[in-house]
Amino acid sequence: MTDMVYPLPAEPKVSFFQTLRFRLIVSVALVHAILMGAFVWLAVTKQSENIRTDLINRAHALTSLMAVASTNALLSENLGSLAEITGRVKRQPDVVYGAIVDIRGDVLASTDPAQVGHHIDLARRSRRSHVLDLRDTVRAAGQPVGTVLLGMSTRALDAHIAETRDQGVAFILLAIVAGSLVAGALSYVITRNLHTLMGAARDIGGGHLAARVNIRARDEVGLLGGAFNAMAESLEATSDQARREHEKRTDAERLACVGELSASIAHEIRNPLSAVINSVKLLGHPSLTAADRTQAIGILNTETQRLQRILNDFLDFSRIRETRPVADDICALIDEVAHLIGEDTQARAVRVHVQSADRPCRTLHDPDQMRQVIWNLILNSVQAMPDGGDVYCRLVREGALVRVSIADTGCGIPDHLLERIVRPFVTGRKQGTGLGLSIVQRILMQHGTRLEVMSHVGAGTEVSFTLEAA
Ligand SMILES: Nc1ncnc2c1ncn2[C@@H]1O[C@H](COP(=O)(O)OP(=O)(O)OP(=O)(O)O)[C@@H](O)[C@H]1O
Ligand SMILES: [Mg+2]
Repeated sequence: MTDMVYPLPAEPKVSFFQTLRFRLIVSVALVHAILMGAFVWLAVTKQSENIRTDLINRAHALTSLMAVASTNALLSENLGSLAEITGRVKRQPDVVYGAIVDIRGDVLASTDPAQVGHHIDLARRSRRSHVLDLRDTVRAAGQPVGTVLLGMSTRALDAHIAETRDQGVAFILLAIVAGSLVAGALSYVITRNLHTLMGAARDIGGGHLAARVNIRARDEVGLLGGAFNAMAESLEATSDQARREHEKRTDAERLACVGELSASIAHEIRNPLSAVINSVKLLGHPSLTAADRTQAIGILNTETQRLQRILNDFLDFSRIRETRPVADDICALIDEVAHLIGEDTQARAVRVHVQSADRPCRTLHDPDQMRQVIWNLILNSVQAMPDGGDVYCRLVREGALVRVSIADTGCGIPDHLLERIVRPFVTGRKQGTGLGLSIVQRILMQHGTRLEVMSHVGAGTEVSFTLEAA
């Protein structure tokens, strides 16, 4: 069994920035950047606070120690002892400078011997960068006897903080890259299965109902794949059933059609055949007069011609060949048919008018088949006006289409006939076989269009159809 194949619309283009993959990668990268950024910032801040506090505590302890150690030496102005204290201070880590001054501000001892003897303005604070400055007043019996000054370097502290910060930033970048890679791989696994599903859905949309997906994942996408297959299975079963029912119905319709057609043919040929049989019987009668003979031969002539016409029409109807549309001037074709029919109907005072804004008016049609369509339609109009009248053939552009309409001022079509008019052997004329419009309809359907009929008894009829403009 073959599936019906339908043309599919072109696959919509999705830019990478609209894809699920891009969104997943960006989301994970953003979450990583924000969370890791906050974490690293907190860690760096906390660690630098701890190191700074540690340094300050060490500096305070050292100045206190200097103050205590230098009290007696200050009282006794023992410069050697004071120099020994600053010498010991100098050996401590991170010390930039250390000095002991008397209450006037004169340097009595210093880690920089060149400073000894100089005067220091104690009201002025040092402005050296990367140095933590501390001072402590040395008291004896509650009275100030001097001041110790200490400068501790913060360079190691700053370098340590910068190193921690740099490591944090590197860690953030690493987390973003690793997160993005994991998100990319994850989204690839998910979207690969979604793409498989999408392809199968498109196949089913295109009529290949046997399309299935093979998704092994045991997650939601796997469940979706299972549900998709179940849906496709039931769709295929329903379609098969519908097809079988359609075939059954078509067979029944075909049989009914054959029956109807046989009955119509029998009905059509019964009268002329009876006339032929009677005439032949009459011709064999011994007491046949010359006048009877002439009449019988005349009847034979007319009725056999009628039989031939019926058979020709029937053959035309049953043998409509494949349509070969080309770009052709429909206006010229109507002119040609109108001219031929006009010549034939001059005596009946029927005027055929062809009206078109465009000349030439090119449409896509099979010229031979379209000639037959126009011929049958104009002929019907002519036959509907036994006392003469006008037939208007109009060509009107409707966007990409051209509407061909043929209107007359004839007798019109009664309602009971109107709805069956395009069925074979439906006729309202004594001499008609009722195949003209059914041939027209079949040809038009092969051109992808249909006949539209509007009629008012006593006023006239307008039949029309559209063709693709070329
Ligand atoms: N323009 C028209 N005006 C009035 N009646 C029409 C017109 N066209 C068709 N009909 C009616 O529709 C009937 C069916 O038309 P159709 O062309 O199929 O068959 P027919 O003309 O009877 O026979 P055939 O065309 O096979 O010789 C006609 O018999 C006629 O009664
Ligand atoms: Mg006809």
